[in-house]
Amino acid sequence: MIGLLNRWQLPVAALAPGQSAKFSLRCAGKAVEGFVVNHEGRFYAYVNRCAHVGTPLDMWPNEFFTDDGRHLICATHGAVYEPETGLCIAGPCPGASLTWLPVAVEGAELVVSCPETER
Ligand code: FES
Repeated sequence: MIGLLNRWQLPVAALAPGQSAKFSLRCAGKAVEGFVVNHEGRFYAYVNRCAHVGTPLDMWPNEFFTDDGRHLICATHGAVYEPETGLCIAGPCPGASLTWLPVAVEGAELVVSCPETER
């Protein structure tokens, strides 16, 4: 885990609407793999672990959106999530949620960090 930090940043301009990016953090001493999406101009970040069985959502690296770009989808069994909330709305785990990560815009940088309790 050497080199992992409790925050990760990317230029805001590098993530256009409909795009996503993956990152690694170290939260409470553990490595956390996550992803951030730009959905209609707003940013949302989650741990990359499906609420169904716990696999990463992107069987194809950095592919998180449905074909129509309206939702997030887990490629393993097709769980569909709301980008804004991480709530599973279709597929094998309706009502379950992705684990949210704090994301903020600081100047020209997008910053994702560990939850406050795990920094
Ligand atoms: S592990 Fe994601 S839908 Fe089953």
